[in-house]
Amino acid sequence: RTVYLKDYRQPDYLVDSTRLRFELEPNATLVESQLKVRRNPAAGEGLPPLQLDGVDLELLSVAIDGVPLGEDDYTCHAEGLSIPVHRAEFTLEIRNRIDPEGNTSLEGLYLSNGMYCTQCEAEGFRKITYYPDRPDVMSKFTTTIVAPGDYPILLSNGNEIERGKIDGDRHFVTWEDPFAKPAYLFALVAGQLEKVEDRFTTMSGREVILEIYTEPKNIHKCDHAMRSLKAAMRWDEEVYGREYDLDIFMIVAVDHFNMGAMENKGLNIFNSACVLASPETATDAAFQRIESIVAHEYFHNWSGNRVTCRDWFQLSLKEGFTVFRDAEFSADMNSRAVKRIEDVSMLRTSQFAEDAGPMSHPVRPDSYMEISNFYTLTIYEKGAEVVRMIHTLLGAQAFRRGSDLYFERHDGCAVTCEDFIAAMEDANEVDLKQFRRWYSQAGTPVLEISDDYDADSNRYTLTVRQSCPPSPGQAEKLPFHIPLKMGLLGADGSALALDADGKGETVLEVTEPEQTFTFEGVPEQPLPSLLRGFSAPVKVRYDYSPAQLQLLMRADSDAFNRWDAGQRLAFRALAQLQADFRSGTAMELPPELVDAYRSVLQQDDLDPALVAEMLTLPSAQTLAEEADTIDAEAIIASRKYAEQALAEALYEHLEQAYRRLDHDKPYRPVAADIAQRRLKNVALAYLCVTEREDALALADSQFATATNMTDSAAALAALVNRADEQRAEAALQNFYERWKEDDQVVELWLSLQSSSPKRGTLEAVRALMAHPAFELTNPNRVRSVIGAFANRNFTQFHQPDGSGFRFLAEQVIALDKLNPQIAARLVTPITRWKKYCQGPREQMFAALQSVMASGQLSADLYEVVSKSLKKD
Ligand code: ARG
Ligand code: ZN
Repeated sequence: RTVYLKDYRQPDYLVDSTRLRFELEPNATLVESQLKVRRNPAAGEGLPPLQLDGVDLELLSVAIDGVPLGEDDYTCHAEGLSIPVHRAEFTLEIRNRIDPEGNTSLEGLYLSNGMYCTQCEAEGFRKITYYPDRPDVMSKFTTTIVAPGDYPILLSNGNEIERGKIDGDRHFVTWEDPFAKPAYLFALVAGQLEKVEDRFTTMSGREVILEIYTEPKNIHKCDHAMRSLKAAMRWDEEVYGREYDLDIFMIVAVDHFNMGAMENKGLNIFNSACVLASPETATDAAFQRIESIVAHEYFHNWSGNRVTCRDWFQLSLKEGFTVFRDAEFSADMNSRAVKRIEDVSMLRTSQFAEDAGPMSHPVRPDSYMEISNFYTLTIYEKGAEVVRMIHTLLGAQAFRRGSDLYFERHDGCAVTCEDFIAAMEDANEVDLKQFRRWYSQAGTPVLEISDDYDADSNRYTLTVRQSCPPSPGQAEKLPFHIPLKMGLLGADGSALALDADGKGETVLEVTEPEQTFTFEGVPEQPLPSLLRGFSAPVKVRYDYSPAQLQLLMRADSDAFNRWDAGQRLAFRALAQLQADFRSGTAMELPPELVDAYRSVLQQDDLDPALVAEMLTLPSAQTLAEEADTIDAEAIIASRKYAEQALAEALYEHLEQAYRRLDHDKPYRPVAADIAQRRLKNVALAYLCVTEREDALALADSQFATATNMTDSAAALAALVNRADEQRAEAALQNFYERWKEDDQVVELWLSLQSSSPKRGTLEAVRALMAHPAFELTNPNRVRSVIGAFANRNFTQFHQPDGSGFRFLAEQVIALDKLNPQIAARLVTPITRWKKYCQGPREQMFAALQSVMASGQLSADLYEVVSKSLKKD
């Protein structure tokens, strides 16, 4: 069944208050609800039946105003209840039973290692009790949890108002959330947990208690999350003027979790992997991921909870805005340029591929079958780029005026993307009419740029042509409003003034299909630096020469564009190598790439993290996204050759860099140190590509002496990817023995193997699935083994016999019976069959068909597979 945005109607009934009572039992939890229901005066005349959502529930009783209803007084169907209504206001009481232990979908209430927890976004609350499970129904919740004494910690949203003992062994706690909220923000946790506690004083001087709960074995891994939380709270006050609003803010770490984390009001629930860290067990990347996700969920308290979404088509209203907020926070806490490079790399490879694939959808979709499938890179990352473009077009101050108006106008309401843009417009008297197309049109726009310099008149012109390829249901696109940030460089690399005021950088507003921009008084033939900081989620085509790219790499004032110029240079080289491979010509690396990389290594004024990024070749996935037709073999061969040639040609320089950076300071996950470790480990990886003994010896010794997980894991990866079987196996064994009790490290250990071009063969992956550390019901384990193989092991997954694709299909079929959300996500790599050359195209298509033919699919998986099988 497909749901359409155009069919949106206001709810017929409102729920002023919701009282819940849970009696926790692994297989038979009793849920009692009492709802104060009222006819929505804005929804029309008469008293239509009350429609409640409910899935997999055992209904025990229904009563209205204290009078029990008979079975003929309502209709109970597979998706809920329909109850005839006779009064405009009434109290509805429902009792039902659920089975948390049997719930492997990880939506609704479930058990994770003996801990009860919930995940209600988007439509999980209907797996807890019958309810109008839609975000525009907002209610004040009071929750009582009753549990046996061996579940000492009982948590829900808001403030604790009562606790006590019941019949000897059992006890209860009651929580009250003073803020009205949709059911998707409800949360409950119960278990044997320990906590780390801290305090935060808000800008108006209120004291807030901060608590992070985990299983006792992980209690030493909470400090970084706590530090990140406090930094995020301060940042949101300083940058957005947003203050926290309850007396307590809680975070709970859970091992079985479908996504990263969830912003439930006052009680955020996190995937353990996104909150727990210690220097010995977590890499720098994990520390940074945790910092950004803790901030992301915290920021949702305003962008998501205080102001929420009217319906799920508006998901990017909260997710795009909140990702933009967390990205800016991370940029302020770390290296801004490196954060931008990481985000853009991900967008360009994965979001661009999504935008060009069968599930392509606008930032505000028009329809969906299963909303869980729309927690996508387009909604999150492209949505954040759309907000960033507004920020770029308006400037920081005007953007802040807009966000202030947005929060003030809509506090306590469920609103739309349109309301967000309108607030930006109204606060600043600007017109974003054409800009709105970013919300309604899918696909990645392309800018073809050409230029002309007239030396006689000192006039320089840039001609920009925009287009956007068709996407499902959208054959023709109207022109977008695109902020194109740019500058001009002189032959010596210095910035040329763009106008009489001497400004060296400007934002061109591209609005027409074809448009010309003229610059007067340009003293020499300039070199354009285009789309600085990636000012719009588009592809820029401009015919740069290798020498021009080298100049940009060396001299552009925009760090992002320096990196991007290097990527373009490498991309050209790799494209040539692929052509050579296909025609059977001997491959040879263009000397300009080696020169460029050598000078990057020699520039000591650059942030080492930026150097590390600049030395990294475009990934196989990036090359695949850029190709018209994907020839996996040629992509693999070109990258392998280029890496080896670069490693050999720059061996001494890399070794010097490695030795210069290889010093033993006490571990701190701060930007400057992270940058040094990053460059050191990129150098190590390159050195080991040569498989020379002296390089592998460096890896051995780093592996043996490392005092932090960043260095330890990098050394292990180098050995696993490059050393001979025996040496790699020994390191893996050693690592496992040391860390087998630590879930997060075991997951790293699994994914290192599955993503290794050498070790992560299909047989090795199957063997890992038989390892005691593997668990098909744990999404982190599935992602570490199957996900890493299909998404991060381009070489082995794309074996020419198609075995990787068949394997993925098998696993997806098995997973769909346990956890549909995870199955629907995991299938993605084979849904892109159309872009591949004939062999893999047919193999992927057949693998997809086998999924479709395997029996009754979940709604989640059915939507993705049926849309992907369409041939046109
Ligand atoms: N709102 C959460 C976040 O981005 C993610 C919710 C996941 N929901 C889902 N249906 N998988 O912070
Ligand atoms: Zn979010």
